[in-house]
Amino acid sequence: MDERVSRIAGVGSHLPARILSNEEMSALVDTSDEWIRERTGIRQRHIAAEGETTADLAEAAARKALDHAGIDASDIDLIVLATTTPDFTFPSTATVIQARLGITQGAAFDVQAVCTGFVYAMSIADNFIARGQARNAIVIGAETMSRIVDWTDRTTCVLFGDGAGAIVLSGEEREGPNDPGVLASYLRSDGRFKDLLHVDGGPSSTQSVGHLRMVGNQVFRHAVTNIAESMTTIAGRAGVAIEDVDWFVPHQANQRILEGVARKLSIPTEKVISTVADHGNTSAASVPLALDRAIQDGRIKRGDLLLMEALGGGFTWGAALARY
Ligand code: ACO
Repeated sequence: MDERVSRIAGVGSHLPARILSNEEMSALVDTSDEWIRERTGIRQRHIAAEGETTADLAEAAARKALDHAGIDASDIDLIVLATTTPDFTFPSTATVIQARLGITQGAAFDVQAVCTGFVYAMSIADNFIARGQARNAIVIGAETMSRIVDWTDRTTCVLFGDGAGAIVLSGEEREGPNDPGVLASYLRSDGRFKDLLHVDGGPSSTQSVGHLRMVGNQVFRHAVTNIAESMTTIAGRAGVAIEDVDWFVPHQANQRILEGVARKLSIPTEKVISTVADHGNTSAASVPLALDRAIQDGRIKRGDLLLMEALGGGFTWGAALARY
């Protein structure tokens, strides 16, 4: 069987209606708009309403991605959904979405790689498509981080937000090296760093969900180093120079991380898509949310070369290179 390429056929995203500003945040914990903006670049985040779940956000994003791709849900034979905040311990949120979209064929499952989840999920779906195991996949990053942050801990609760983003990947015959599609992905993890970024609960350990805990300044240092390493590695493997990349679509953890990585690799900041000011850190949802925004506002055009990257709990980190 000839290897096929996974083309990004459509993109969609969805945010909860409720916006929580930094000013409102200062009424909840001992913080200020000035501190949050200076240290992170965040101005506001979206927060899911009571009863609004990760699956609700994911379904809305998936439907928009299907519309954008012009593909019917009945043609989807794979759903890979990245989340740290699933609706249930089981079944997976991916199978919830499968049922809501009326899909009864193929496979659906969740991926847990925290903030790197979307990059992992896209790589998995690309491999299924390349091997002929799926024809059309929906890849989703969706989170309700507001449900696992400790709302009394100012060092973490100001950073996170809720949202979802999705892409449709369609398998096509590979015709040449400049075909649109996923060109390469690079996934890494190193479990020794669990204590720097983790959730202090889970079904088997505490029979509870737990809260997010982070040693922020140490995560920061690892983030800049590991993200820059993943970007140069993936570019090298794909035979692409960093200067050839049209758009960098990073995980949105902190504006200072985006700027630190850009400085390290001499990337002009105009090429870096940043949504952190409006969304905060939406974990697995942040890359597809940023991708959708830049496609909808016309910055990213068909044929552009994109480099997506992320680092999250685990640590997990990685990058994906795609021609849109
Ligand atoms: N408001 C006011 N003061 C605060 C706040 C706040 N919200 N949070 C912390 N501070 C204080 C601290 O207590 C500390 O005070 P002290 O000096 O008196 O002890 C001071 O501000 C500085 O704290 P630092 O943690 O050193 O601040 P830093 O400049 O590192 O910024 C931040 C913290 C924003 C968390 C940053 O370290 C960061 O972005 N880290 C990386 C986050 C990240 O990449 N996460 C990855 C993915 S997340 C995931 O996978 C789920």
